[in-house]
Amino acid sequence: MKFTYYGHSTFLVEIKDHKILIDPFISPNELARDIDISTIRPDVMLITHGHEDHVADALPILENNPDCLLVSNFEIVNWFQEKNVKNAHPMNHGGTYDLGFAKVKYVNAVHSSIMPDGAYGGNPGGFIIFGEEKAVYYAGDTALTTDMQLIPRFAAIDLAILPIGDNFTMGYEDAIVAAEFVECNRVVGMHYDTFPPIKIDKDKAIGAFKEAGLTLTLLPVGQSITV
Ligand code: NI
Ligand code: MN
Repeated sequence: MKFTYYGHSTFLVEIKDHKILIDPFISPNELARDIDISTIRPDVMLITHGHEDHVADALPILENNPDCLLVSNFEIVNWFQEKNVKNAHPMNHGGTYDLGFAKVKYVNAVHSSIMPDGAYGGNPGGFIIFGEEKAVYYAGDTALTTDMQLIPRFAAIDLAILPIGDNFTMGYEDAIVAAEFVECNRVVGMHYDTFPPIKIDKDKAIGAFKEAGLTLTLLPVGQSITV
């Protein structure tokens, strides 16, 4: 599985010749100005919750890729179906769905969820992506929660993608505990630096992970990591 970072919490996952786009927030993000959303051709789009900084580019990308399957919680899928998105699959917490080339499990997150127009966005979540004999935990926006201790019961996690920006989610100190809860020593950070309240000292964060015996990778926009 290959994960390419498009800034903020947006990743493109490649599994064999299939592509999954997660939480598209690219065109409003000055840090991702080099990414052209018209060139992104996902087969599946995963959305963790309804906040603007996770769905901003979802509709234009889905309209541009009518075969792309939207997978999210029930309320978010309904909202997009009302906007004429035909190819969509609703889930809710605890459920697993087989995409054919990979499976996804929608897991708990402690956060909030409202659509950009104020519509109810269901409860927020994260995903475990099971693909190519590897499993990746994408936490979404969340606080540190003991629910994360369940994650290693669902899968041996090879890579954890965790928010580290603080203020709206956990910060990197709590993300170190989260990595321990999910029993994964390889972490990619997300949800930092995009806005002033979530700007972090990256060297300090990387150093704190190192001290805890963990690896924190902060990908430059456009760069990839393979598991
Ligand atoms: Ni959020
Ligand atoms: Mn967010």
